[in-house]
Amino acid sequence: MKLRYFSHSAFQITTDNNKIILIDPFLDDNPTSPVKSKDVTADYIILSHAHGDHLGDTFKIAGKDTIIICVNELANYCISRGFKAHNMHIGGGYNFDFGRVKFTIAHHGSKTPSGEYAGEPAGIIITINNKSIYHTGDTALFYDMKLIGEMTKIDYMLLPIGDNYTMGIKDAVKAVELVNPGLAIPMHYNTFPVIQADPELFKRNVEEKGYKCRVMRYGEEIEL
Ligand code: NI
Ligand code: MN
Repeated sequence: MKLRYFSHSAFQITTDNNKIILIDPFLDDNPTSPVKSKDVTADYIILSHAHGDHLGDTFKIAGKDTIIICVNELANYCISRGFKAHNMHIGGGYNFDFGRVKFTIAHHGSKTPSGEYAGEPAGIIITINNKSIYHTGDTALFYDMKLIGEMTKIDYMLLPIGDNYTMGIKDAVKAVELVNPGLAIPMHYNTFPVIQADPELFKRNVEEKGYKCRVMRYGEEIEL
């Protein structure tokens, strides 16, 4: 399986049987993404919440067979716009043909760019071939991250470090300690002036605590 980082909170997972899964595909209005919506396709799009920098270009990318996976209220919004969605909710998991998706709590907000209520924001745990990726979504630090790490061995933790709207570096380092992932990957930084953060500083601080960290370049793809 491969993981590609577009920047901000946008990632692409390509499974060994070539299913393409996008997470929070904010590309066209994202000044840091080297890839735009016309450059990608998706079998599945998983959304953490409805803010414009996460819902992103979902409706430009989704084709007639693309399934959007998200919490119930946001899924209904997608369905009302003519798209296919799989309605889930926080605490629930479901086995898709590519692997398992489970939604966790996240402490943040969630409304669509046009102001519709979109349910609660979420974190996402994706398990494929016994490897688990925890994309925290936009969130504050919360102590139940420890429980998340105890219930699922997290191999890859994708977490925000940009501060202002989410955890900053200090809180994100603590989040890594609580979850105890195999590898931490920072996200949600340097996209806008208010979320400037140095990912190399985050990396050093994580490594000082004894954990592994990788700063993915924008557009970079790694084998998981
Ligand atoms: Ni947000
Ligand atoms: Mn955001």
